[in-house]
Amino acid sequence: MGFAQSTKTSYISHYQCRKCFSFLEIKSMCRLVVLFLVMLPHAAAYDPLDPTGNITIKWDIVSWTADGYVAAVTMNNFQVYRSIRSPGWTLGWQWAKKEVIWSMVGAQTTEQGDCSKFKGNVPHCCKRNPIVVDLLPGVPYNQQFSNCCKGGVLSAWGQDPIGSVSAFQVSVGLAGTSNKTVKLPTNFTLLGPGPGYTCGPAKVVASTVYLTADRRRKTQALMTWNVTCTYSQFLASRNPSCCVSFSSFYNETITPCPTCACGCQNKKNCVMSDSKKAHKGGINTPRKDNAPMLQCTHHMCPIRVHWHVKLNYKDYWRVKIAITNFNYRMNYTQWTLVAQHPSLNAVTQVFSFDYKPLVPYEAINDTGMFYGMKYYNDLLMEAGPQGNVQSEVLLRKNKDTFTFKHGWAFPRKVYFNGDECLLPPPDTYPFLPNSAHVNPITILTMAFSVLLCMLTI
Ligand SMILES: *[C@@H]1O[C@H](CO)[C@@H](O)[C@H](O)[C@H]1NC(C)=O
Ligand SMILES: *[C@@H]1O[C@H](CO)[C@@H](O)[C@H](O)[C@H]1NC(C)=O
Ligand SMILES: *[C@@H]1O[C@H](CO)[C@@H](O)[C@H](O)[C@H]1NC(C)=O
Ligand SMILES: *[C@@H]1O[C@H](CO)[C@@H](O)[C@H](O)[C@H]1NC(C)=O
Ligand SMILES: *[C@@H]1O[C@H](CO)[C@@H](O)[C@H](O)[C@H]1NC(C)=O
Ligand SMILES: *[C@@H]1O[C@H](CO)[C@@H](O)[C@H](O)[C@H]1NC(C)=O
Ligand SMILES: *[C@@H]1O[C@H](CO)[C@@H](O)[C@H](O)[C@H]1NC(C)=O
Repeated sequence: MGFAQSTKTSYISHYQCRKCFSFLEIKSMCRLVVLFLVMLPHAAAYDPLDPTGNITIKWDIVSWTADGYVAAVTMNNFQVYRSIRSPGWTLGWQWAKKEVIWSMVGAQTTEQGDCSKFKGNVPHCCKRNPIVVDLLPGVPYNQQFSNCCKGGVLSAWGQDPIGSVSAFQVSVGLAGTSNKTVKLPTNFTLLGPGPGYTCGPAKVVASTVYLTADRRRKTQALMTWNVTCTYSQFLASRNPSCCVSFSSFYNETITPCPTCACGCQNKKNCVMSDSKKAHKGGINTPRKDNAPMLQCTHHMCPIRVHWHVKLNYKDYWRVKIAITNFNYRMNYTQWTLVAQHPSLNAVTQVFSFDYKPLVPYEAINDTGMFYGMKYYNDLLMEAGPQGNVQSEVLLRKNKDTFTFKHGWAFPRKVYFNGDECLLPPPDTYPFLPNSAHVNPITILTMAFSVLLCMLTI
């Protein structure tokens, strides 16, 4: 079941058929996949480029009260390249008994619910399914909690570890008052900000140990439980949210994004870039529901990533990467771009992005994350003349594998902000003049290796 789901979650690119893996490589990869699926019995989603990526929600009971407990709730985004952007996360759960929330610091529930049976002190929330959101920056000091009040924005861990944490404090009543009687909340849900996350059950774990400010004394939570949530692009949206186009110095053809790569359902109310509407005031005002206002393109994607094979030196080659925003209503702050290509194990210089290799499996070091330089191009502006960022990458040639043939110089996978982008079909790649288009033998080999791998594991 897990395997079926994991293939469903990726928009399989035909291009992979041309990847020439040896049988041994395929076999060891299959073993890794199986290993991870065995290790993650509750995995609802599996991202091969970030296999342990998750958001972990930790509840630390810091004190027992007359009728319940006070807990510090911490959300850690352990995903290397996927963030939660504005308007931020929404966390929900179901109480196991008749618990109420007396008060909250650093976050709030969206609804109070029916607290009519309470005389005197009225709880913050009496709902059986509380829905919690972060507070906005700049709330009064007495409502703040450490790592709170960021409007629910959580950075990707690989990009900004400090910004990848969010926390609040909750005071729970009508609950157990010892670690024997307390009941764990159930049915956790997480929106980030849209659908895509699935949360497992809460599990009691070793109590968190805190170091005092002078680092000379340790204290510990009275009880701790963790909830782990994982992302699946398939649950997030039916269509991709970005596409990829290619060009090269050796062929004039520009391979565009596939037509309707992101679905064409917005085609009716898109805006022509040269129309009056595109220059009218208010076009950039974001909507509450985050609905996009797209520039009219044949692909109808909010984001296009262009990969241009620019130069060929004796020992090096050079790629230009450009990301274009077609959404008039969105500025992408702290964007990330992940690419998979065999040459990324030999990145020599990245000129105007930051770069970090991702090493999901030690043996296959072919994936890396690009992101904007702080205060320079970490903001990808709304559609229009400013709506793009670009950089060049210098790569060393590996004499055994490097070739411009068969589209080898183009990436195998591309992700923008953690969502996989649709690549063009392989028969449209710019070809090296006089090179064969398709190599039926590699496709056969690939099919055979997959069969072999299924028979031998
Ligand atoms: C969540 O991510 C962290 C960091 O990558 C990892 O150590 C942990 O095992 C993951 N948890 C689960 C349940 O996958
Ligand atoms: C519980 O979550 C915290 C992060 O919030 C993590 O550091 C810790 O390793 C987790 N514990 C277990 C047993 O997964
Ligand atoms: C509950 O507390 C007792 C000591 O007060 C401890 O021995 C026990 O391990 C705790 N149980 C859990 C689930 O934390
Ligand atoms: C969790 O939610 C599902 C449906 O949303 C419901 O069927 C189930 O009973 C809930 N579980 C608990 C323990 O409340
Ligand atoms: C994007 O940022 C610019 C400059 O900060 C601002 O003027 C513009 O309104 C923003 N656009 C959107 C869609 O938020
Ligand atoms: C992975 O590739 C990067 C360059 O992109 C290199 O710096 C790093 O040493 C490589 N890591 C391994 C384990 O080979
Ligand atoms: C350039 O690539 C296209 C395929 O995208 C191919 O049809 C064309 O023949 C190539 N041009 C040359 C000069 O080889």
